[in-house]
Amino acid sequence: MATPMGTVDLFDQGYVSDPLPVWDALREDAPVHYEPDTGLWLVSRYDDVRAILLDTDTFLPDNAMDAIGRFSIPTLRVLAKARFALPPTLASNGGESHAGYRRVMTRLLNARAVAASVPMIERVTGECLDLAEERLAADGVCDLATTPARDVPLLVLLRLLGLDQALDAGLDTLARWSDASLELFWGRPDAGRQLELAGEAADFYRWIRGLVAGPAAGEDTLLGALAAHRLPGGGPLSAAQSAAVLYFMIIAGQATTRQMMSLMYRRALGEPGLWRRFAAEPAGVEPWAEEMLRREPPITTWRRVTARPVTVRGVDIPAGAPLLLMLASTGSDPDVFENPERLCLERSNRRGHLSFGVGRHRCSGAELARAEAGVMLRMTAARLPDLRLVDAASAPAMPALLSFRAPLRVLAERGPAERR
Ligand code: HEM
Repeated sequence: MATPMGTVDLFDQGYVSDPLPVWDALREDAPVHYEPDTGLWLVSRYDDVRAILLDTDTFLPDNAMDAIGRFSIPTLRVLAKARFALPPTLASNGGESHAGYRRVMTRLLNARAVAASVPMIERVTGECLDLAEERLAADGVCDLATTPARDVPLLVLLRLLGLDQALDAGLDTLARWSDASLELFWGRPDAGRQLELAGEAADFYRWIRGLVAGPAAGEDTLLGALAAHRLPGGGPLSAAQSAAVLYFMIIAGQATTRQMMSLMYRRALGEPGLWRRFAAEPAGVEPWAEEMLRREPPITTWRRVTARPVTVRGVDIPAGAPLLLMLASTGSDPDVFENPERLCLERSNRRGHLSFGVGRHRCSGAELARAEAGVMLRMTAARLPDLRLVDAASAPAMPALLSFRAPLRVLAERGPAERR
């Protein structure tokens, strides 16, 4: 399939650091673009992506969790030894059991549950900021990508899902397992690295199977709700199905939010005057965070697969073709968002972006992510109004993953006026 666009190397560091020009070119010149290297069909305009997400008969979510690369035999052996299996439950489930799984998530994560958990989010954020302040006092610098951006979402998620026992594994280990899983499935590791990552994912999965086999829990917890849940045929979930939900949730429920916060902290601290404005006018924080979700979302792409031959914007696509929906590109589509490069607090269709998806599989954790962003930005700016980036001039290091994009580190220090 010839398009006016050249090859797009989705794993190239230049693209990962600054993908916006590529997204602009795709939308403009090749809104449906076939990429031979990965076999993916890139779809980048807002209207097309929205229509695809809403047409769940033609565009199936079945490939959402597929690994990008092929696993080597040693990798497969490591995973098989751990009985690693991800039967379709949530994001990759196009079948009739999806609605029931989704109800379980909605009961735990609906807007009321999130609103009730705000005091807990504030408490956890306060504790993490104590730690950040201690590091600033001791070392003169702290990494916001770790505390609070990594630790708050992890602690909040485990509390909200009633998975307090998971804390025994330790935050560092949980984050390492989660990152290894993202790189294994969405990255392009070489053979040695793939094997290493498979070892981490297998350890993670074994540990999850241990949680699933553990003592019965109340129905207000994720494990209790899964134990009580019945599939459309009336049967209970298998251990592999419960483990698949936990595996997805422990990753999706915090890695994404950490990435979102790392992007937001870096941008908020990098724009002259903005950080101090957050401290003085906290009401502007939520609209700004929403604009960041539109313009620079942590999940840049998501996949679907065609159920039948279909034509999108005049381009014929065969049945069984994997599509890469460029969610992040749609947030900068000038046909929908005027002056998309501006983070505009008054934008009337601010919440119309597709960064959380839309339709049947729309993100169940969107309200939680928004609440966390509001609390963390407001509290951090209030406690540390003199914070500034250490390496503002340099491009941040970002891992090359197909669907996730965020700086690995956000190093910050206190400004001269406050330094002791
Ligand atoms: C900024 C943070 C986040 C972003 C950008 C994000 C984005 C997404 C996207 C793009 C999807 C796929 C939508 C689709 O296929 O149509 C998704 C699915 C999902 N997300 Fe999130 N997410 C975030 C945080 C969270 C959190 C905090 C949780 C839970 C605590 C969560 C739970 C889920 C679940 C359960 C699904 C699958 C929904 C389904 O298939 O029915 N996400 N998310």
